[in-house]
Amino acid sequence: MPYSETKNDHSGYVIDCRPPKLSDGAAMWRLTRDTGVLDLNSSYQYLLWCRDFSSTSVVAVSQDEQLLGFITGFMRPDDPETLMIWQVGVDEAARGHGLASRMLDYLVDTTSAQNLETTVTDDNAASIRLFASLADRHDAVHDITPLFTPEMYPDGHDTEYLHRIGPLVPNTGQDSTEQRHLAVVR
Ligand SMILES: CC(C)(COP(=O)(O)OP(=O)(O)OC[C@H]1O[C@@H](n2cnc3c(N)ncnc32)[C@H](O)[C@@H]1OP(=O)(O)O)[C@@H](O)C(=O)NCCC(=O)NCCS
Repeated sequence: MPYSETKNDHSGYVIDCRPPKLSDGAAMWRLTRDTGVLDLNSSYQYLLWCRDFSSTSVVAVSQDEQLLGFITGFMRPDDPETLMIWQVGVDEAARGHGLASRMLDYLVDTTSAQNLETTVTDDNAASIRLFASLADRHDAVHDITPLFTPEMYPDGHDTEYLHRIGPLVPNTGQDSTEQRHLAVVR
């Protein structure tokens, strides 16, 4: 049974952050489906992302390589110092322990992005707080503007607000890169 379909207790798990591999694609699709709130893309899309955008994406896995979370992202072709975050998902049982924040910090470190962008609907309090918290940690400006409004969609989608956060400061050394790769969920 896929991990995201179990109700395991994650207490004491050491979690590794690393770039996604092709073999993670299926679990990323399942985790996305199981959130019930993220737009579920085709399983093909997750595989393609693992092949072509793994250096700007991250997975969080337990010691036995079960997927606990992921972020898909890319550097914007028109603005190559800006990391665009597409989807963030954390297995329900692993939420509330700082895992999404750890994965974001990992990507800011490994991509050396100067700015970060994402879009969020205004009913997603957890996501809004996740990105506000990142801006706080970097003492960065956090601008929010409507990007994709309902009349642009063919299917009645809610407005996606663009969150642009920057400039991002390099890691000060308080928390080493190695520590960002390893998180302990208590
Ligand atoms: C959003 C999500 C990724 C957060 O993952 P997480 O690992 O629990 O997040 P963290 O523990 O790193 O928390 C980050 C911040 O968000 C806050 N937060 C987390 N869940 C929250 C919630 N349900 N309501 C309000 N704030 C919340 C935390 O308190 C923390 O704030 P702080 O740094 O000021 O203390 C997770 O809830 C999820 O997968 N949700 C379903 C998919 C989704 O909505 N993805 C985001 C859209 S791209």
